[in-house]
Amino acid sequence: MAQIYDRFMQRSEEQCLRAWREALLRPLEGSVLEVGAGTGANLALYPATLERLVLTEPDGAMRRKLERRARELGRDVRVLDAPIERLPFEAASFDALVSTLVLCSVRRQDEALAEMKRVLKPGGRLVFIEHVAAEPGARRRAWQGRLEPFWRRIAGNCHLTRETAEAIGAAGFVLDSCTRESMRKALPFLRPSVRGVARKPSSANAAP
Ligand SMILES: C[S@@+](CC[C@H](N)C(=O)[O-])C[C@H]1O[C@@H](n2cnc3c(N)ncnc32)[C@H](O)[C@@H]1O
Repeated sequence: MAQIYDRFMQRSEEQCLRAWREALLRPLEGSVLEVGAGTGANLALYPATLERLVLTEPDGAMRRKLERRARELGRDVRVLDAPIERLPFEAASFDALVSTLVLCSVRRQDEALAEMKRVLKPGGRLVFIEHVAAEPGARRRAWQGRLEPFWRRIAGNCHLTRETAEAIGAAGFVLDSCTRESMRKALPFLRPSVRGVARKPSSANAAP
């Protein structure tokens, strides 16, 4: 995966992803944690003014590329080998969390989102870009279902039929913005995508 990832994504990055990443990351402030940072596609796009930037990536080959990119960019970041499900931080440690193209691959989205919510401060933001299931009843949705068992095996447990915006809401986040749009130049079954910002409620009105 680490060998081919950047080349595999290149045309979508040029056509849409890079602009989406930039628009979501530019307003971030304070202390930021990115989970599943991969080869570091977001790295150059974070504001230089952040107080602290921590990146997690459990895949060794991806992590080596990430560390190399951070060095090349001269970014002062901490890179950790940690799965989303067990983040080595105290509760309420971060102002913002970033998850781009990661929640398709985790074993259970509810566990991952609960752990992300734990380390986020009340009122903190989860910034996300994820490919998701096509609309119910669409032919593309049926194809996603047929292809998913094979795709998961060859693409690091990547699921094609997840309804990730709904899962973020079900985990107790408030969706401040959510845009559904085709990820242009991706393989057709990867094109349906959501992106946006979700907020952890402040403790007064927090969901469990
Ligand atoms: C498709 S890549 C996306 C990389 C990067 N976030 C991006 O936007 O290009 C998915 C990444 O999620 C990571 N990942 C998968 N399961 C994970 C988990 N349980 N915890 C943390 N990272 C995970 C993979 O190692 C991989 O680097």
